[in-house]
Amino acid sequence: MPDHTKFYVVSAFLLGAALTALYQKRTQHDDRQTSERHSKQLHQLLAKLSNVNDLDTLKKSLREIEQRLEKGEGNIREGVEGCIGNTPLIKIKSLSEATGCEILAKAEFLNGAGNSPKDRVALSIIEMAEEKGLLVPHSGDTIYEGTVGSTGISLAAICRARGYKAHICMPNDMAIEKSDLLLKLGAEVERVRPAPIVDQNQFVNLARTRAKEHTEDPEKSGRGLFADQFETEANWRAHFTGTGPEIYEQTGGQLDAFISGAGTGGTISGVALSLKSRLPELKVVLADPQGSGLFNKVKYGVMFDTKEREGTRRRHQVDTIVEGIGINRVTHNFEVGRELIDDAIRVTDEQAISMARWLVENDGIFVGSSSAVNCVAATKLAKQLGPGHRIVTLLCDSGARHLSKFWANTEPIGGTEKDVSLDNILEP
Ligand SMILES: Cc1ncc(COP(=O)(O)O)c(C=O)c1O
Repeated sequence: MPDHTKFYVVSAFLLGAALTALYQKRTQHDDRQTSERHSKQLHQLLAKLSNVNDLDTLKKSLREIEQRLEKGEGNIREGVEGCIGNTPLIKIKSLSEATGCEILAKAEFLNGAGNSPKDRVALSIIEMAEEKGLLVPHSGDTIYEGTVGSTGISLAAICRARGYKAHICMPNDMAIEKSDLLLKLGAEVERVRPAPIVDQNQFVNLARTRAKEHTEDPEKSGRGLFADQFETEANWRAHFTGTGPEIYEQTGGQLDAFISGAGTGGTISGVALSLKSRLPELKVVLADPQGSGLFNKVKYGVMFDTKEREGTRRRHQVDTIVEGIGINRVTHNFEVGRELIDDAIRVTDEQAISMARWLVENDGIFVGSSSAVNCVAATKLAKQLGPGHRIVTLLCDSGARHLSKFWANTEPIGGTEKDVSLDNILEP
């Protein structure tokens, strides 16, 4: 049977089964409160299933429904993993008022394990490895990853919850609070000199080597698994089955543009693939910090001028104070969705720093550098599109992760004579 036919047959069957189960559950209770709760449940179920357009998403949605049916609606989450996803979509009032567009942001810093969108990715990587039988809890199995911090923090937290160990390699110029946090989560941390990808001691290459060394070492228990966030399918798929459908559901499919930075590229690719399959007119835009080559790749099809190419630079991979987004090579996770990216907007460090301060002063929103870049770019896009449009972006992590570096560059909040203005922020 062809794949799509199989998909429809399976969907119809499972939908019927789920609805019957819900209906039966509903008729077992007759008090008003319970019945209202089940109506809501039924409504959510239908909304969720109406968004499904591939087997993986269907499987994920049905697993969630099954869990809800088993445990009752309630508000109880299954461990730290149960606090990942379904993040709120919030309207940034100040930016919306100033532009006449609705600027909405997915509050990804509210993911409950490592407090960033990387929770989705880390869980997806671990679940995929478990499905393949590559990880055995409490056996000494260790996950190795090269990360600027967020993915490591998410992996370290979920590893604790699932009985694995985490070993994180990161550049030593990232904010110190991230490696402190990793150590408190019990991860092993190697902070290494920033190096280009051609160097075997570059943080991603080192993590791959360490995983191999672990597996080959007879003295060590368990195996080493290289998480490989830049190249693994588990990354973009987490956003394809999670972040994207959530945005569709939360906006009722009413949005004109999605804009986000890219580190591995998993977020922008996964969301673009998910949303554009339902909203072909949607504009997907990359928000890129200074020093990153992705802007040129999207705009002109070439990555860099030769002096910027990763491997030729001596120190920094990407010359920016921003952490987590911006890169000078094309990863698999970026490539997967690249053709769906319509445009790119460049953001300077100064603009990002001023925006971070603006968001606190006007909205009480305290975020890190990549979120600030997203908000500058979303505001620039709103000015380009003109009033009346709805733009969705991401708030990735809290400013608390960036106190010693990015936030150390901001002027004091409030009460200063020279308060930050939006025109200032948007100056080219
Ligand atoms: C704080 C933060 N924001 C955004 C991103 C970028 O997301 P992606 O890797 O999906 O492109 C990262 C990536 O590491 C990150 O750490």
